[in-house]
Amino acid sequence: MRLKEPRDLLLYELSAIYAGEKAIADMLKEVAGDVDDDNLAKMLKTHQRETKDQAKILDTCFKHLGETPMDVPCGVIDAIRQEYREFTANKPAPQVLTMFALGGALKVEHFEIATYRGLVDKAMMMGDTELAQNLTTILHQEEETAGKLERCASELDHKVLAPA
Ligand SMILES: [Fe+2]
Repeated sequence: MRLKEPRDLLLYELSAIYAGEKAIADMLKEVAGDVDDDNLAKMLKTHQRETKDQAKILDTCFKHLGETPMDVPCGVIDAIRQEYREFTANKPAPQVLTMFALGGALKVEHFEIATYRGLVDKAMMMGDTELAQNLTTILHQEEETAGKLERCASELDHKVLAPA
């Protein structure tokens, strides 16, 4: 694997988030089936469909760059998935699992936001407007999802944790 130039780094990061999006799509499906909140389950399913489309947008980005994705894992997403599995193996109560799942989904979104912000910046600095635009489309979807999840988490925390 060639990692000599800044462009190689962009390709590496793009490849890692490409692997990440595929893992996230699987994870969202799994988590949507686990949570004890219809509104959250619906939100996760909607974002699962969006995530599959994001992987297609990334396909377009690789094509545009004339490259194929490097074979790299997305360590952060793999770790969040592992953390979720370890937690659920303890058979948490439904509400506790739902709160944990929401926190996990937010970790995923904020990781994605940080990743795409860095990638958009690099694409712009390279003068590649088309790449920057495609990545910005994904970034905005992640930001919108994070906002929805934050509102959902705040409502749930209020319901469960605030003193009566
Ligand atoms: Fe995503």
